[in-house]
Amino acid sequence: MDTILVTGGTGYIGSHTVVELINEGFRALIVDDLSNSNIEVLDGIEKITGVRPGFEKMDICNGPLLKSFMDRHKDITAIIHFAASKSVEESVGKPLKYYRNNLVSLMNLLEEMQTGSVSNLVFSSSCTVYGQPDKLPVTESAPVKKAESPYGNTKKISEDIIADCIKADNSLKSISLRYFNPIGAHPSALIGELPGGIPDNLVPFITQTAIGMRKEIKVFGGDYNTSDGSCIRDYLHVTDLAKAHVVAIKRLLEKRNKSNYEVFNLGTGKGVSVLEVIKTFERANSLTLNYKITGRRAGDIEQVWADTSLANSELGWKAESSLEEALISAWKWEQHYRKKYK
Ligand code: NAD
Ligand code: WQD
Repeated sequence: MDTILVTGGTGYIGSHTVVELINEGFRALIVDDLSNSNIEVLDGIEKITGVRPGFEKMDICNGPLLKSFMDRHKDITAIIHFAASKSVEESVGKPLKYYRNNLVSLMNLLEEMQTGSVSNLVFSSSCTVYGQPDKLPVTESAPVKKAESPYGNTKKISEDIIADCIKADNSLKSISLRYFNPIGAHPSALIGELPGGIPDNLVPFITQTAIGMRKEIKVFGGDYNTSDGSCIRDYLHVTDLAKAHVVAIKRLLEKRNKSNYEVFNLGTGKGVSVLEVIKTFERANSLTLNYKITGRRAGDIEQVWADTSLANSELGWKAESSLEEALISAWKWEQHYRKKYK
């Protein structure tokens, strides 16, 4: 049984991925400093899978601590690196927090990989690297644009760091997965997203409005050059996204990768507007939402959705869940979460 190190494994996408790894017979070992997650996530994972994953609380920016951890876990055969700070807005005000946390953590891991026995890395990248693409749907070969935020820049720089390390050491192999907009929660509602404070992201804002925590949803912009004037994104169910990580890990472990550094878009391939998300949420959950169209949000791009043909053909992965299913799971999780954590 392969042991997979999952950094940031108690976080939103990490916890769902740990569930899928366990379901596929892997041993998952989590390191997380709990800066943006909760230790009780382990209980949720255990209830879903019947297995409690290994866990160590650690800031992976601490090189000596990470080294001692890796020395104690020689059974690790691959790493999935989720741990990072992820608020676009916060990164504008605190760029050094983002450059330090997101880049030092990655460099520490790569250093351990170069000196140790682990050669496989799956990295959490983002569609943010494309900015506003010239052509839609966007393919992996589209140019990477100047980042709109320090957060976005850390993803671009991280991809460059990984590619450079692989050029220098051909024993290393990595897959960067460029996520579009992950939403929803595990259908059991035992794990999900835990946004701190006022959510930046659309779906947590919708569910918090539905439960009465927020007065109304502000639709940021109704005058974009889109069918209904609101922005378009590619929203994918987090469980589909989680499964793609297992596929990527198997590809590396089974040496099916075509080059030592590969990049894949992970989305549904379908663009959906903000107003369509709101209406689908209302319909799927038989609820009425209070929303109003306001001014544009600074830094937002108008529209982006993925060309997923490379992930479909090469990884054999395809997003299976509908937007309705994702929004039903998001609402179920919100209700469960309010009862449990508040
Ligand atoms: P999250 O905040 O829920 O999870 C990240 C986890 O990493 C948290 O549990 C946090 O406590 C931990 N962490 C942060 N810094 C750490 C450190 N130095 N040492 C140890 N643990 C640390 O975020 P998420 O939504 O699950 O995102 C996971 C990854 O996917 C991130 O790299 C993020 O940038 C990337 N990503 C997320 C999205 C999205 O919309 N959620 C989209 C594209 C890419
Ligand atoms: C989606 C749409 C908003 C909130 C961000 C990061 C990106 C990636 C995914 C990590 C946009 C609109 C939102 C609200 C709204 N993360 N909106 N009212 O901006 O596509 O991407 O998360 O890598 O890097 O930038 O996601 O969920 O914030 O917004 O109208 O209250 O919903 O304008 O069009 P976004 P989001």
